[in-house]
Amino acid sequence: MTINNLVNKRILLGVTGGIAAYKAADLVRRLQDQGADVRVVMTRAATEFITPLTMQALSGHPTHIDMLDAETESVMGHIELARWSDLILIAPASADFIARFCGGHGDDLLTTICLAAETNIAIAPAMNQAMWSNPQTQMNIAQLERSEVLIMGPAEGIQACGETGQGRLLDVDQIVQRTISIFPSEKLTGKKVVITAGPTRESIDPVRFISNHSSGKQGYALAEAAVEAGADVVVISGPTNLDPVDRARTINTVSADDMYAAVMSEIADCDVFIGVAAVADFKPVMQSEQKLKKTQDSNTMTIELIENPDIIASVAALSKRPFCVGFAAETEHLLGHARLKLQRKKLDLIVANNVADSSIGFNSDNNRITLVWNDGESDLPVMSKRNIAAKIVNHVSKQLDAQKV
Ligand code: PMT
Repeated sequence: MTINNLVNKRILLGVTGGIAAYKAADLVRRLQDQGADVRVVMTRAATEFITPLTMQALSGHPTHIDMLDAETESVMGHIELARWSDLILIAPASADFIARFCGGHGDDLLTTICLAAETNIAIAPAMNQAMWSNPQTQMNIAQLERSEVLIMGPAEGIQACGETGQGRLLDVDQIVQRTISIFPSEKLTGKKVVITAGPTRESIDPVRFISNHSSGKQGYALAEAAVEAGADVVVISGPTNLDPVDRARTINTVSADDMYAAVMSEIADCDVFIGVAAVADFKPVMQSEQKLKKTQDSNTMTIELIENPDIIASVAALSKRPFCVGFAAETEHLLGHARLKLQRKKLDLIVANNVADSSIGFNSDNNRITLVWNDGESDLPVMSKRNIAAKIVNHVSKQLDAQKV
């Protein structure tokens, strides 16, 4: 399997004027091959060497050039672009751009973005060898290095002007490798993680349903933690009031049957499945097409229920199965019941939580869990669902590593 080292990473590629600008087109593709989302900003001079349309077609986003271009500013303004990116990579970076950047200028879109940026900035210089070795350029480069701007290259060799020396744009593959190395190696890079979250709703009639108090907070927090860890994340969500998780794909479902179908459609290439959803164990045998009415002759009503598919047990029973993590929502005998579920559903790990305590479990921002696996368990104190999610992701990645040995 190809490891996409830049999955979930947002790279703003700045292209400045110079003959090497054409190589930026290949760079967009190579960064995308590693999973990065790339947006392009060009200086006016760069547009003399390669068209904005080429960069737009390759990146799949509008190319940004001018500060006051109403069209692209309305798509994403300069401050938003600076905030959006995990890395600003300027390749090729001309001597003129380097001087203006160094001087703190904000006289075009790219320098303004660099001024507004609070993220990592890397530059790959490309220029004539005499311009590169000019003391002023070298002073500028030394100053940028002191400001923790990463300098990639330049390489030595024959230049477009026919001279030989240092000043060529570093090879595109090397720029990509240097870019990958900027980001700390992540625990779930290259893994597809499917997470169910929230409640399910089982219809009784067009206006009533059976459900539970799950808010989706724990499942969404896990999705965020998995995205942070570099995974390709799919959230299969029951009805919640939460915003979709940034950089994850969300599939909205309503009933357990819907959730089952969505999970099965995503499971073939899944590496880790985490069942956080509070799936209704039963649904009404009949769903009335019309609203059920009170009757004169009885003050009771019976709704016959039938079992729903057990989603996580079905995933764990597949011949090619992902690493399976379940949650056990218990009101008594927490660890005993959790361990039974671990064994009965053939899971790799189960997260036991007590849903009788309203300060944790359903709908709270906090939880208290015990991780239970075949030959061990680990009890954690009360903490936020975000922190719990990070602990679970850590544990899963360690177990995946142990399986490799
Ligand atoms: O959403 P929040 O408000 O943040 O609350 C979080 C939570 C309390 C819902 C969560 O921490 C939790 O405990 N989720 C599991 C709820 C549950 O259904 O537990 P269970 O013990 O009934 O089920 C055990 C496991 O089987 C779970 O992983 C569940 O997703 C799965 N299951 C259950 C039934 C079914 N038909 N299919 C399933 O996949």
